Amino acid sequence: MPPQNLHEIRTFSGYKVYYYDEVPSTNDVAKEIAKRTQEQNTVIIAETQTHGRGRHRRHWVSPRGGIWLSILLRPSVTPEEATKLTFITATAVAGTIQSTLGLATEVKWPNDVLVNRKKLCGILTEASTRGNIVECVVVGIGINANMGLQSFPNNLQKSVTTLKHELGCEINRETLARILIQSFDQRYKHLQNGMWSALLQEWRSLARFLGGKVVVTSFAETLVGEALDVDADGALIVRLQNGVLRRMVAGDVKLVDLSTSG
Ligand code: BTN
Repeated sequence: MPPQNLHEIRTFSGYKVYYYDEVPSTNDVAKEIAKRTQEQNTVIIAETQTHGRGRHRRHWVSPRGGIWLSILLRPSVTPEEATKLTFITATAVAGTIQSTLGLATEVKWPNDVLVNRKKLCGILTEASTRGNIVECVVVGIGINANMGLQSFPNNLQKSVTTLKHELGCEINRETLARILIQSFDQRYKHLQNGMWSALLQEWRSLARFLGGKVVVTSFAETLVGEALDVDADGALIVRLQNGVLRRMVAGDVKLVDLSTSG
């Protein structure tokens, strides 16, 4: 069952928004709501998460001051196409931060938004399927907002950043979340209207790592090469040092030499 400590319900751009103080994970609350109801276009926001999850079942540090939210959707997509939601979400986050706060943002395959080459936001997209039918998709967004770097464990402090650290002041999280949902919704509607290639092109325009040297780690292997492009299915194309092209459908990218990227 969703936690009982629901604070309030609001509406942002036609999305019903449930505010919680503390939950295990906003993605899990959204999945519970999906199981019990037919709701869609619903947003779960929490001040803090006790069991925030990142990709590959990693723990996601979720102190107070962050923007921890999940969007419950019921799109008409195949399981493979659900990853497109990660791309449009990253573009929406990057665009919102750039236009409302003036920070230069970039996206990193497959699910990060960076500021000054440091991770500001991670996205966790989880689809519930029955056979080849997608019953619902939960898009979880974690933005490090009003906290200092000291809120993160020592081993993360070099690779993450926060809006407060970058701006030197706190931001209005509700305003940012409202603009983000609106910006997401525009792209979500475009996606449903068959405009994927324009949406992917928009993501590419923010992908400064393309053309640069990367180390890509997947379950099976670690590859070093040049990140050439992302194909129409969202897979990363890497040119290895021996010239061979490899197509990666999952993995983590480490930027090695950004001075060579465009
Ligand atoms: C990643 O970069 O590994 C993805 C991180 C996603 C974190 C967000 S915070 C809100 C939502 N709830 C979760 O438990 N995870 C996502």
